[in-house]
Amino acid sequence: MTITEELINRINVCKKCTLHKCRKNAVPGEGSYSAEIMFIGEAPGKDEDTQGKPFVGASGKLLTQLIESIGLSREDVFISNVVKCRPPENRDPLPDEVAACWPYLEQQIRIIKPLLIVTLGRHSMARFLLDLKISDVHGQAKRAKGFWKEKQVYLPLYHPAVALYDPRKKEVLFEDFKKIPLILEKIKKEKNDIQ
Ligand code: URA
Ligand code: SF4
Repeated sequence: MTITEELINRINVCKKCTLHKCRKNAVPGEGSYSAEIMFIGEAPGKDEDTQGKPFVGASGKLLTQLIESIGLSREDVFISNVVKCRPPENRDPLPDEVAACWPYLEQQIRIIKPLLIVTLGRHSMARFLLDLKISDVHGQAKRAKGFWKEKQVYLPLYHPAVALYDPRKKEVLFEDFKKIPLILEKIKKEKNDIQ
């Protein structure tokens, strides 16, 4: 078994927090383990819980469109969530649930070593970038301390679910997505420069 298969299996049978009691399926995340970009949402919803896959409901459809709007497919990136099981009635995950689940996301990030972490929504942003307001910083790449390397680049974006009911936010999301290829190019150039 590969390390990634082993991780998926562990998540699928995990009982580290009470969310395991009401899930149909855990949602470990999916995509390429050599992805340059990781998208991180907050928690699975109803459709995700049913299918065991991240972002497959209405907001997932929009996320897929957004990814395709910059010439990529879901298979090129990695899509995951801060917690891997659906909270009842889609409530926000509690601090102890986030703490229990965090090591899985941390391990995914260590394996994938993404050039760019895109956080979806203010809750996901708040796990990585402290004390920022999403309405101020959406679409602005930030370098901040990562736990697997000194400086990780993050891009905080609005959550696609918010954009479903707010056409203006949807426009903003598509505009912000357009910046991703340029940000990646910049990160790669910096990597290649002689230090
Ligand atoms: N919203 C999220 O944050 N994650 C999903 O997987 C689906 C909806
Ligand atoms: Fe385990 Fe995370 Fe699911 Fe809680 S949410 S049971 S920690 S996989």
